[in-house]
This record gives sequence, structure tokens and C-alpha cells, in this order.
Amino acid sequence: LVSDWSSDVCSSDLAMTSPAQRLAELRDLITRHSEAYFVRDEPVIPDADYDELVRELREIERQHSELVSEVSQRVGAPASTVFSPVRHSEAMLSLDNVFDVEELRAWSERVVKGLDATGLDATGLDVTGLLDFCVEPKIDGLALSITYRDGLLVQAATRGDGRVGEDVTNNVRTIANMPHELRAARGSFEIRGEVFLAKADFEQLNVTQRALDAKVFANARNAAAGSLRQKDPAVSASRPLSFLAYQLVDLGGNLSLATHRATLTQLADWGFLVAPETRMVRGEQEMIAASTWFEEHRHDLTYDIDGTVIKLDDLTYRAALGSTSRAPRWAIARKFPPEERTTRLLAIEVSIGRTGRATPYAVLEPVL
Ligand code: IVH
Repeated sequence: LVSDWSSDVCSSDLAMTSPAQRLAELRDLITRHSEAYFVRDEPVIPDADYDELVRELREIERQHSELVSEVSQRVGAPASTVFSPVRHSEAMLSLDNVFDVEELRAWSERVVKGLDATGLDATGLDVTGLLDFCVEPKIDGLALSITYRDGLLVQAATRGDGRVGEDVTNNVRTIANMPHELRAARGSFEIRGEVFLAKADFEQLNVTQRALDAKVFANARNAAAGSLRQKDPAVSASRPLSFLAYQLVDLGGNLSLATHRATLTQLADWGFLVAPETRMVRGEQEMIAASTWFEEHRHDLTYDIDGTVIKLDDLTYRAALGSTSRAPRWAIARKFPPEERTTRLLAIEVSIGRTGRATPYAVLEPVL
């Protein structure tokens, strides 16, 4: 399976391929790779290569609007049938990505323009005319939505395709730092965040797995997703999973939160872990500096991150900007460049395609 399509990232005769053909190829690859990632928890190619396929797909679709398909608008993958389906009260969206400072600046300019257009710009800005942002780590885990009614944990679901997720309530109850009760909470809330394995816990898990002659995990994200999406909650319970919260959906409108920072304070008061490294900043310059800080310190954190998430702080502004069917306009993920490693070229081999075409490829010593 792997050799069939894992290395098929770029077509060898790209120059002769029509946009429609390349689109069909990309959609097929993206569908298969997102299934490997979201459904089987066993990705075949690095995340950066996957992002590159999506980027190419979107670029072709941008130039050929008649060819736009549902693939580029997808969030995650359909929920597996192992778990009961759960319809989210409010869609669990994805995030748009940027890959460098220039694209980040372009996003923040779009935010300012978008707010200008709504007529909200003059009302809430501070005297210097700058916007407030929260800069958070982008945790490389698995998105979860947990429903609390009158303070009690009643349901937990994975993101699935954004509309319908998987019921993993019993597994989530076994996560050590998950509050089962929210002090003095009335009404219904959905708390959203990420299940992950801290780096030290991931190392320890693999030591245990080796001792048991069981499967050793390639990275903390796959291990976390595989550990949570278990039929038997006892298996999840044996894995050192953690949960970090970053979003609150107030279903009954019981709280009057005006900003994201107030939301994070409320979550922390209820006992949720929130990212201690989150930075509250004012204006584009500070926002870019904070996001770059994460890039420089990513290896000093106790958990894996693959970028930063920058969010507009003011919830009224967020509502004014709204979302597309896939992602909010008020937040953006700045993805870090893929980590580079030097390795050894072991051989150059040739594969013969169905039509007899020969494609040379490199065999490299594997590196993480
Ligand atoms: S906010 C509507 N904040 O990244 C916006 N997401 O690539 C909801 N993620 O689906 C997401 N860290 O699973 C947000 N600090 C953070 C995050 C974060 C990781 C994940 C989340 C999301 C995915 C998008």
C-alpha cells in the first residue's frame, strides 16, 4: 500500500498533465492521505508534504474556478463506524494555514479590512488603533469537544468531518487531567481543545510498549489519536493522555465573555489545562514577534507543536468577521517549516508503471 502511493507526491510528467488531470490526481492522493491520518491514525507522508498537496490543489482551483470541488473544503474525515455518531451543536471548523511572516501579515491586513467593511473598526480599538490578538501554540494532537450540562461531563466527541464526530465519552473520562465537574456552572457548554501526549509521556509509553512487545508509535500525535480512539476504554486509561482547552461554546448564553483571554481564564478557573505559553499581544508587530518566539522555542516546550494559532481577542469582532464553511476568518495557523534532517542515499531504483513508464526514485535511510 505504502509503495503504491506514498511517494506519489509529484507527478513525473507534470508538464504534460492538464490542470483537470492533476486535480483528479491530487484529490485522490489527498483523500487517501487524509484517511490514513484521520481514520487509521497512521499517516504515510509527513504533514508538510500533505499541506503542500492541499496548497497545490487550492492554487489550481483558484486559477480554474470551474474545477472547484468539495475536497479542498473538507474538514478532517468522516467519523469511523466503530463509535456512535455525535452531531456537533456548532460545527468544529479547521484553520486556514500560512507558512511565513509575509502571509501572516497579509492575513492580519485582511482582518483589518474585513472589520473596516463591517463598520466596527472605530468602536472597540484601543487608542493606538491596534488590534489585540492571542498567540497560542498549535498543539499536534486530536481535536475534541466535551459537553457539560449543569456542570457535569455528559458527552465527548472527536471532530470527525466537522459536523458529525465519534462518541468517545467513556475513553475521555479516563484522561487524568479532564475535569468531570465544573464548579458552579449552570447551563450547557461545549469545551473544545486537544488531546495529546506530553513528550516525556510519549517516550515512557514507547518504553512500556517495547517491554510488552507491543506496537511502538512513530510520534506523539499518532500515539495520542490511536490511544483515544480505542473500542475498550481500559486501553485509553492505560495511556498517559492529557487534554488542553482552547475554546468554549456557551450553548445557553449563560456567560457574558467579551474576549478570548477572559474565556481562557474561565477555562483555567474550571480546572482545565490552558497553554501556559499563550501570549496576549497588541498589534501586528507584537503578534509576529510572539509567533516567531514559538518557532524558536518549539523544542523547549513539554509537548509537540507544529505551529502557532493566532486569534483575534475581541469576540464581537470575531462574530463580525464570521467563518467560511471550513475555517474562521478571525484565526489563522502559522505552520512551521518542516524539520530538516540529513540522511544517506542508499540506492536509486526504478519503478515501472502500468503503462511501462520508468520512474527512478531514491531509497533513503529513514529519519524522524
Ligand atoms: S482553534 C475554529 N487553537 O488545529 C477554530 N486549534 O489545523 C478552532 N489546534 O482543528 C481551532 N492547537 O484541532 C485552535 N491553540 C489551538 C490549536 C488548535 C491545535 C488544532 C485543532 C484544529 C486544527 C486545525
